[in-house]
Amino acid sequence: MSLLKPLLRTKPVGQPPDSLDRRMGLLSLTSLSIGATLGTGIFVVLGQAAPVAGPAVAVSFAVAALAALFSALSYAELAGAVPVSGSAYSYTYATLGELVAWVCGWCLLLEYGVSVAAVAVGWSGYLNAFLDATLGVQLPAALSGEVVNLPAAVVVLLATAVLLGGVRESAAVTTAATLLKVGVLVFFVVVAVFGFRAENLAPFAPAGVAGITGAASLVFFSFIGFDAASTAGEEARNPQRDLPRAIVISLAVVTAVYVLVALTAVAAVGVGPLEGSDASLATVLAQVTGRGWPSTVLAAGAVVAIASVVLTVLYGQTRVLVAMARDGLVPKLFARLGSRRVPTANTLLVGGAVAVLAALVPLGQLAEATSIGTLVAFGLVNIGVVVLRRTRPDLPRGFRTPLVPLVPLLGLGMCVLLVAGLAPATWIAFGVWTVAGLVVYFGYGRRRSELAQGE
Ligand code: ALA
Repeated sequence: MSLLKPLLRTKPVGQPPDSLDRRMGLLSLTSLSIGATLGTGIFVVLGQAAPVAGPAVAVSFAVAALAALFSALSYAELAGAVPVSGSAYSYTYATLGELVAWVCGWCLLLEYGVSVAAVAVGWSGYLNAFLDATLGVQLPAALSGEVVNLPAAVVVLLATAVLLGGVRESAAVTTAATLLKVGVLVFFVVVAVFGFRAENLAPFAPAGVAGITGAASLVFFSFIGFDAASTAGEEARNPQRDLPRAIVISLAVVTAVYVLVALTAVAAVGVGPLEGSDASLATVLAQVTGRGWPSTVLAAGAVVAIASVVLTVLYGQTRVLVAMARDGLVPKLFARLGSRRVPTANTLLVGGAVAVLAALVPLGQLAEATSIGTLVAFGLVNIGVVVLRRTRPDLPRGFRTPLVPLVPLLGLGMCVLLVAGLAPATWIAFGVWTVAGLVVYFGYGRRRSELAQGE
């Protein structure tokens, strides 16, 4: 037992000593979450998932939304009860102990860090579509993904620079970009409806239930980020009240948008043209309007919109690392705040590493790695809710997950189902990643942990 004890030590729920500035209200938190969510998933991954499910890909979005919803309800309770930055990592630290928290934080490096790279690669597809439609310019294939993806790396470095400028600017930029991207997708739906042809929807589910759940595993990627508000727990003015609300509202908005976009896209052109396009929604509008201006407007909107996902998710990653560094599990350098109360070294290191990933790894692999890391982290959050109800029934909760333990257990089950739908190569890569994380923990974090210092 004495060997196990350090691994199970939990962090008391309380406020950290060196708080970040508290200036975000419900609107900024909600737009942070929507901003982190609407991106490459709907703009690009839809095209990869449509051939798997057929027109029923719209149903796949609903299935993935259900997985996200159950986990969102768990997130909402923990975000209100443990209102510090660091998201699922902080929640599991307070509930399931240090080792599980470490594994969770390690998964979040996939959910946030690797997904920024995936999103940036999707962005580059729309940039190319936009440059082609307006200026007739095409980047050489070697620079737009065949060898390196230069635009993807550049957008990550730009986002890094914005974050170094401080939270206030970033939050304002995020709110504006969020409004724009919801607007762009509504615009898509309105134009695509003109191409609606019922015969494009038949047969609706050619690959049956397996096709629908397989595509759900792929499009789950598009829901990642609704929990981004939870990484800003310490920057929220009223976290107990606003974090749970922001999470649930953002999930509702993105689900409605996704189902409508998927349905109208397939109904307009069928599954074929979506497949293999790096800018599938622009392709749909080009086909519906005969290469008219709406497709160019959409590509332009996507370029701005997806860039904002890069920004907000990168932000989330730096905040998770701040929390882990404060706890002593990664070097203190990651928690050091610079003159604008921004974790400067942390932001530079994360931005640099993500830019390299975005330049070198293809979208499909990045997206699957992101999904598996996120699903495991969500699974742990669902377990965390059940545990915290038993260990700390007294804790004030701004939001209570309904029907505990049923809802968190359904959330856990959905996470397992979606992990099962990912490629076996992704499971293996994830296994290697987890082992590497355990080596780091046992070689560094276990002894350096702040909680170890008090023992
Ligand atoms: N949900 C984010 C996107 O789809 C990762 O771009």
